[in-house]
Amino acid sequence: MAANPAPYQSAQADSAVSVSGLTAAYDGAPVLDNVSFELGAGQWHTVIGPNGSGKTTLLTILAGSLTPVRGDVKLFGGDPEACRRRSEVAYMPQHENLEWDFPISVWDTVMTGRYGHMRRDALWRRFLPARLSADRHREICARALAEVRMDHLARRPIGQLSGGQKKRVLLARMLTQEAPLVLLDEPLVGLDKDSRRLILDVLRRQRERGQTIVMVTHDLVNTMKYADQVLLLNRSVIDIGPPAEMLRDDMLTRTAAPNWLTQTPAADEEDA
Ligand SMILES: Nc1ncnc2c1ncn2[C@@H]1O[C@H](COP(=O)(O)OP(=O)(O)OP(=O)(O)O)[C@@H](O)[C@H]1O
Ligand SMILES: [Mg+2]
Repeated sequence: MAANPAPYQSAQADSAVSVSGLTAAYDGAPVLDNVSFELGAGQWHTVIGPNGSGKTTLLTILAGSLTPVRGDVKLFGGDPEACRRRSEVAYMPQHENLEWDFPISVWDTVMTGRYGHMRRDALWRRFLPARLSADRHREICARALAEVRMDHLARRPIGQLSGGQKKRVLLARMLTQEAPLVLLDEPLVGLDKDSRRLILDVLRRQRERGQTIVMVTHDLVNTMKYADQVLLLNRSVIDIGPPAEMLRDDMLTRTAAPNWLTQTPAADEEDA
């Protein structure tokens, strides 16, 4: 079956993410130190590092929710804020702070992914009947729900979903954003084998359509299977390259080794 036309060709740059000299801190405590790397457009990149190594912090900066202390970020070779305003970046956070008890249906939740596009539709409405414009958003929403196999639960309140179903709803919402760059923070955690497979297959199809995927995960097996490139991170970049080279034991040991930035004052005192 033919894939949907790629909506991601607009991002023509070779590089999707370019980070240089990035330093981040919370309340003065350093978390990322002089991080520099480049992620090619249209590829699947996995970020791997131990707990507390700064993976979520990095994604939050790319998503624009945290300002770094220093350093430069470019998305598709340009200003990240302009990219975000054009809805070119979608973010699926590790701990989604959606209010799951809020009385809103699966359908309406997924539809919120279209809001960025709807804002820009306002100009079009002068030329198009409003119904046609709304139909387009509904079609995209229905397609995303079908893709994650949640179409039969479209009318259900989100508070009545299982954990795995919630993740699929968030993935569908991300699909409706049609962003050329997607950032996913541990999207596979807590899922059974079938649900993991479903999410990975959806992402693989998106990548085939030209979307750039940046996924944080601790899942080495699926990284080996799906990723084009692996970024090993522990407060600074340990290395970046193809999965077969990055997931060797020696590389993983280097990545997991305590970093000077992770040492607590107590540990320092003991060493003294
Ligand atoms: N809002 C915050 N305020 C203060 N410190 C924070 C905050 N968020 C994260 N940190 C600290 O920054 C460091 C990096 O955290 P981060 O969440 O980026 O790690 P991570 O690699 O995503 O870890 P995990 O694999 O556990 O999700 C940790 O030491 C964490 O305690
Ligand atoms: Mg994290």
